[in-house]
Amino acid sequence: MTIVSIDGLFVPFLEGGLARKRLQEIEGELRHAHRELMSRRGKDIDFYDVPLATTVIKTVTTEVTRLRSLADDLLVLGIGGSSLGGQAIYSALCGTADRSFRVHFVDNIDPDTLSSLLERLDPAKTATAVISKSGTTVETLALLLIVRRWFRVSLGKGEMRSRMTAVTGTEDSLLRELCQAEGIRVFEIPTHVAGRYSALTAVGLLPAAFVGIDIGALLEGAASMVKKVTADDVLDNPACILAAGGWLASHDLGRTSLVMMPYCDALRTTTAWFVQLWGESLGKRRNRLGEEVRTGQTPIPAVGATDQHTQLQLFLEGPRDKAVMLVEVAKHRSLLPIPDELEEREEATFLHGRDLSEILDAERRATRAALLEGGVPVIDVVLPVLDPARMGALLVLFQAACATTGIMLGVNPFDQPGVEESRRMALGLLGRPGYESEAKRVLLRESPRRGPEGID
Ligand code: PA5
Repeated sequence: MTIVSIDGLFVPFLEGGLARKRLQEIEGELRHAHRELMSRRGKDIDFYDVPLATTVIKTVTTEVTRLRSLADDLLVLGIGGSSLGGQAIYSALCGTADRSFRVHFVDNIDPDTLSSLLERLDPAKTATAVISKSGTTVETLALLLIVRRWFRVSLGKGEMRSRMTAVTGTEDSLLRELCQAEGIRVFEIPTHVAGRYSALTAVGLLPAAFVGIDIGALLEGAASMVKKVTADDVLDNPACILAAGGWLASHDLGRTSLVMMPYCDALRTTTAWFVQLWGESLGKRRNRLGEEVRTGQTPIPAVGATDQHTQLQLFLEGPRDKAVMLVEVAKHRSLLPIPDELEEREEATFLHGRDLSEILDAERRATRAALLEGGVPVIDVVLPVLDPARMGALLVLFQAACATTGIMLGVNPFDQPGVEESRRMALGLLGRPGYESEAKRVLLRESPRRGPEGID
């Protein structure tokens, strides 16, 4: 069972912590937010129901079988919510999958990265999935044009088309039109599922299935978490408890940053997905009434034990503005006992015969205690194992907690009005008709950059 505990916010565990009754005191606010989400479920909020729509398993599997008959490598073109969910699932679970197939997520437009990837891949053994809900995102479009040309030049038009599949929103767009015109298979992202809440649609399922991750189990685990996070008793609802933890840490204890720190390498990429989810959903200038609120909680990615040797010093002794969410995986997939090397050295002998995961766990417990003693609030998330079902459940848990937090903060957790401006300005600079005034705004803010000279 996946457990969420916010004991690490309260005395006597936390030095300078809250009284436990604070949770009961905010129960009304929690219930209010939860009720709103439930009343909008199936109307303008669909992420809860994505894991229940299991017909996608068959359609994705059929398409993946076709792609695997053509290719060993899948290039996934997409950015933000159209990539990170897939990346998180792939990184968490590729260790449970078929190693003869590979996925390469291209979520940036750095020419060095794409050139070197295309140099390494054989177009005759590669396929591509282009993912964009709007179907108009400039970065994804630019990547698509390059990859199409790469296929066409070496394999011809027919092969280029058959090696492509797409995931997009329901509205008309350049991507949708192109797919229709060229007979390319299209999977849909439901209208009321924002990009960063779409990991369990074809966005994440397609790359996962390509490497043989059990997407049926992923959705099954997600569906059982949907039951828990939609339950009415908010004090027994893991998403509401997680939301309460983040909210109390921020509101009562001034912890404006939330560190996500799994003790599991396979969850490293999930921290990047979480950063987008928490940051883009909650970081808002205005609330839903249009008032300026400048709210949000800065998500910080970390991984144990690695970041004990990088960021932990800051978490413990730096500004008292952070809470830490520790994610424990109780049982790792592999056993790796430490051998009786260096038998004569007592600095090493205490390790002999212990499993590597035992050391990792001791380090997590020690870090947790040090954080609590140092007055840093801790939220614990415990997974019994990291398998497809638990991963699906984890994604739903964070999505639901984030949505609940957004409603408690009074903001819209499903939009991202701030990033729209820079997107329009970039289009202006690149000369897209209709964006001339945005281009002028960029030029107005640019000045020759002066400063001390370094090397040429
Ligand atoms: O969460 C979101 O909505 C965004 O991060 C989008 O996923 C991102 O901007 C990419 O957009 P699109 O899927 O339309 O290409």
